[in-house]
Amino acid sequence: METAFKERNPIGETRYQRFAAQPVTGTFGAWITGVQIADALTDDALFKELYDAWLKYQVLFFRDQQVSPEQHLALGERFGELQKLGYVGSLEGYDGVWVQEYPALYDGPVSDINWHADSSFRARPTRGSLLYALDVPAGAGATVWADQCAAYDDLTPAWKDFLDGLSCIHDNLTRDPYRVFDQIGGKALADMRKFLPPTEHPVVCEHPESKRRFLFVSELMAREIVGMSRNESRAVLDFLFAHQTRPEYQARLHWEPRTLALWDNYSTLHRGIFDFGQAHRLMHRVSFNAAWLGDS
Ligand code: SIN
Repeated sequence: METAFKERNPIGETRYQRFAAQPVTGTFGAWITGVQIADALTDDALFKELYDAWLKYQVLFFRDQQVSPEQHLALGERFGELQKLGYVGSLEGYDGVWVQEYPALYDGPVSDINWHADSSFRARPTRGSLLYALDVPAGAGATVWADQCAAYDDLTPAWKDFLDGLSCIHDNLTRDPYRVFDQIGGKALADMRKFLPPTEHPVVCEHPESKRRFLFVSELMAREIVGMSRNESRAVLDFLFAHQTRPEYQARLHWEPRTLALWDNYSTLHRGIFDFGQAHRLMHRVSFNAAWLGDS
């Protein structure tokens, strides 16, 4: 019988001219030390190296960063096309710097967020995000990412063949349609669905830049596999949800104030860990778009 895991070497450290990337796990994620990411706004050589590291490691973590809201927005523009419309409000005067503040957000749409890639229900999902911690509860409120290239690579040839050519409907109401209905009512829900209709994406995608293949489904957004019965689709998705979030593919970031994470939102999933009760947790986030499958 084929095993689901094949031997591969851990991704290891890379020495760039301006910094070293220290791996977070055997497959993805790196700590970047000795640089201020805001310097990449004016330093092209540093920006290029950070971009290369981002493509290679998919998720980059930085401690002790000084990033003003202006610089945060400018960094988003450096990496892609700024996203102005978020699921939470913007910082006053800084359209596109989204404020994620708890415990207030528990009452809104962020109360029960599971594994996902941001905006996968859009025709062009979010390309990446820069999340910056301002206030975090000690030892709690981590964020976890899962490497979808490694999750795909480890599938057996039989599963890879089976998934090839399948597509999935991504729907932002997959998880809790009844709760949203109860919260906002039928009219607002109908308007929302006109504005954000469900979208179809391949289950296995080729990354537009790294050219690596990755799984593109998630428990929060993947509603059904196209062309399958409800039971068939459930069985396939349940297997994928369990496989793609195995501990082998996870990298966990314990935040400190002024920690910043930059992630590839195509080839990774993420979820916040809401283990901090009513404690205060304040993050600023900038997200950006770029070419998706088939875009030139
Ligand atoms: C999210 O984007 O789902 C939340 C991430 C976090 O706040 O840790």
